[in-house]
Amino acid sequence: MKANTLLPLLGLSGSAVGAVVNRNNQGPFGYASGSKQSIANLKDKVENVVWILLENRGFDNILGGVHKKGLDNVVNNGPFCNPVSVSAPNGQKICSQFKDFDSVIHDPDHSVTGVNFELYGTYNPSNDAIANGTLKPSLDGFVERQADRYKISSQLATEEVMGYYSEDEIPTLVNLVDEFTTFNYWHSCVPGPTNPNRLCAIAGTADGHGSNDNDFDVSAIDIPSIFQVASEKGISWKNYDGTNGAFLSDALFFNWTAANAKSSVVPFENFYQDAYLGTLPKLSYLNPSCCGLDTNSMHPSGNVSTGQVLLKQIYDAVRTGPQWDKTLLLITFDETGDNKTYTEKATDGSTYTLNFDRLGGRMPTWLVSPYTPQGHIENFGIDPATGKSASYSATSVLKTLGYLWDLQDFTPRVSHSPAFDHLIGPNARRNTPTTLANPHPFPEAV
Ligand SMILES: *[C@@H]1O[C@H](CO)[C@@H](O)[C@H](O)[C@H]1NC(C)=O
Ligand SMILES: *[C@@H]1O[C@H](CO)[C@@H](O)[C@H](O)[C@H]1NC(C)=O
Ligand SMILES: *[C@@H]1O[C@H](CO)[C@@H](O)[C@H](O)[C@H]1NC(C)=O
Ligand SMILES: *[C@@H]1O[C@H](CO)[C@@H](O)[C@H](O)[C@H]1NC(C)=O
Repeated sequence: MKANTLLPLLGLSGSAVGAVVNRNNQGPFGYASGSKQSIANLKDKVENVVWILLENRGFDNILGGVHKKGLDNVVNNGPFCNPVSVSAPNGQKICSQFKDFDSVIHDPDHSVTGVNFELYGTYNPSNDAIANGTLKPSLDGFVERQADRYKISSQLATEEVMGYYSEDEIPTLVNLVDEFTTFNYWHSCVPGPTNPNRLCAIAGTADGHGSNDNDFDVSAIDIPSIFQVASEKGISWKNYDGTNGAFLSDALFFNWTAANAKSSVVPFENFYQDAYLGTLPKLSYLNPSCCGLDTNSMHPSGNVSTGQVLLKQIYDAVRTGPQWDKTLLLITFDETGDNKTYTEKATDGSTYTLNFDRLGGRMPTWLVSPYTPQGHIENFGIDPATGKSASYSATSVLKTLGYLWDLQDFTPRVSHSPAFDHLIGPNARRNTPTTLANPHPFPEAV
């Protein structure tokens, strides 16, 4: 793997990913993000937002094998390699390879300290050195961490954590790349697990959470979320809950929602009803099922083919329903600042404290609408607070929704997140596909 796919991202300082001052950067339609013209156009074109976070897949895993020009991925810019052991960086290396099975059985480590090992080759990197830019992620520890965690060979570990799909295996996703906008540099909020990342996407902060702790299971999160803010502004929303009772749907992380808006959390099948009948609320937030056999979030060991079925169903329903022309569909993943900290004990017994001042891994993300440019690959956006070039991230959604619905920035992190309003153009395309390509099964995990 290579370092520039996962830059040392500083969520809050705004000190930058790209150093170029870029305030006048014009988007594909000739207007810049956050400009008057762009926001007026966004408000004119978008009435409904449909937003889904899938689970636990990195950019190169999902899109590494797609040959489209401009994608910063394995087949265009690789191969990316890892040493078998981080303590012997010049010893044997194994490189990213095409993987011919549908899902991995062994979920890669995505605890905070596990991700440290994957990115920096140690459970305990120096936060100071990361912050002052002298320690850059080598991305060298993925193979060793996986082999060590599951006691498997380095070869199998490489297939699992550095493998990627062929275009033939992901026809539905290739269709999205060819037809709509794909982000090259879209990162999760937190280099850590699911719920802190989901919380950050919908509330603009992980609020000090670095693990999937009990607060998420008992609606004990007490900060404003997009659901509360939308309700207070009279913006309709539903959280379509596909969790099948395995855990709480994301809107129910919050005690505010549990007390005031439980009825806005509805079964996932209602999404299709609302999409086909034209009764989608202004914000549809979709929770897929998770996380094992026959679930559709793509979380290992859930299959990529079942995840594609889900995306096709969502797209087809919106596309052929009456609200398509006014709908913005954003498909992203949960993972691969805040002034709170989170401390965790690593598997080697050491402790590490995360300051929530850097982003997590790079994830596939698509912007789908009749107003996005066909086949566009979006690179960096603009930090609205500094005018500098920066990676997109999970909180780019809240920044964009802020422009759309006149919401105040939830947190400083949101103020620094590049928005994507300028990727919505002035004219609707009439040639968007009525249906996405059908996925098909391919060989099982080994
Ligand atoms: C960066 O931080 C590390 C760790 O504290 C320190 O050793 C190093 O001298 C610092 N370098 C610069 C250029 O500030
Ligand atoms: C949420 O919990 C906090 C702390 O327990 C409490 O102060 C607050 O009133 C609760 N809010 C609602 C809407 O229940
Ligand atoms: C993946 O899908 C195949 C059928 O295509 C199924 O046999 C297999 O059990 C699935 N594997 C997982 C891990 O879900
Ligand atoms: C964290 O931020 C909050 C809100 O901006 C502030 O009230 C608090 O004092 C800060 N705490 C620390 C430790 O900086």
